[in-house]
Amino acid sequence: MKYIEDIEIDNKKVILRLDYNVTIKDGKIIDDTKIRKSIPTIKYLLNKNCHVLIMSHLGKIKSENDKRDNSLKIVCEHLAKLLNMNVNFISTYQGDELSNSLKQYALSMMENTRFADYPLNLESGCDLKLAKYWASLADVFVNDAFGTTHRKHASNYGIAKYLPSVYGFLINEELMGLEPLVKNIAHPFVVIMGGAKVDDKIKLIESLVQECDYLLVGGGIANTFLKATHHEIGSSLYSVEYVEDIAKILHTYENKIIIPDDVYVLRDGKKVKTTVNEILNDDKIYDIGSETIEKYGNYLKKARTIFVNGTMGYYEDRDYREGTENLYRLLNNLDAIKIAGGGDAVSSVNSLGYKDAFDFLSTGGGATLDYLANKKLKCFEER
Ligand code: 3PG
Repeated sequence: MKYIEDIEIDNKKVILRLDYNVTIKDGKIIDDTKIRKSIPTIKYLLNKNCHVLIMSHLGKIKSENDKRDNSLKIVCEHLAKLLNMNVNFISTYQGDELSNSLKQYALSMMENTRFADYPLNLESGCDLKLAKYWASLADVFVNDAFGTTHRKHASNYGIAKYLPSVYGFLINEELMGLEPLVKNIAHPFVVIMGGAKVDDKIKLIESLVQECDYLLVGGGIANTFLKATHHEIGSSLYSVEYVEDIAKILHTYENKIIIPDDVYVLRDGKKVKTTVNEILNDDKIYDIGSETIEKYGNYLKKARTIFVNGTMGYYEDRDYREGTENLYRLLNNLDAIKIAGGGDAVSSVNSLGYKDAFDFLSTGGGATLDYLANKKLKCFEER
């Protein structure tokens, strides 16, 4: 797919696919990073005199009620404020209001593309009739929704079948930012893998463990690794169905994979530090311990490339953020190329105030993991 700057786009009618899948609580957007990061592409198109129709998904739509809770209206109003201009909101994904929008308004935003998912799963099922209809509204398709590049849906993969298509500045920034993890990786390459569950990361673990020199494990993920090495983990969360896969990976790469020596657990209502050999039946692991951080530091000090995915513990709780915070403090003093990506890694970096410790923070969750595992963006695959 071509880059937005490589085509003549002046005065065109443009469908701009963005990832405005943001968390909204009590009618407020919790983190507007994705919205702010989309602005360069919007401004570029408006400066080129284009008429622009923004499309995005928000949440998952499996019932009528989901529609009520996942309208993009709030996002549209927020964008209008950030741009200081009118953004015409279209409350449906089809019909006259939509087809006239690109003729009448400089900038419009269509309601959540996934409203077409209930009851017929048209967006997520990549219904080509719908994709063709959307494509018929514009002259050019600009995809700048990095966060959804691992999906082949009607509004990204589908529309691109029927229109000249390019990617925008945000996707370009992601591809450049993640390049040190994809091409000519500088070794030693150390991956820090954390977060809640192994389930959505198993493919990434399998792929990265082959490329990295060391894989340091923390967070809920470490519980599955501890289970696979026959440690007692009490009543801690772990991914039952992946224990065997993890045991196999550990067997093949035993010298590369480093697991915690000590952890903080909740025991009888109190926070207790223990070695991983002394965890009791009812303990719940919530963080990695100080000896583990020190051990991980020895691997990190020698690294030339470091990738962080996921947190070391339940960082949202003050009592259990030490592992995550000490890790970021340590990284802050290192010279390597440091990149964080995937959901809570980036939120924790931002909320704990360590943004500047990193060379690049990816906006993608599943998309970042998928890109690193497969080295290509699914929605750009051959159509
Ligand atoms: C994200 O927030 O990671 C993207 O918007 C993708 O969302 P999805 O997993 O619901 O497709």
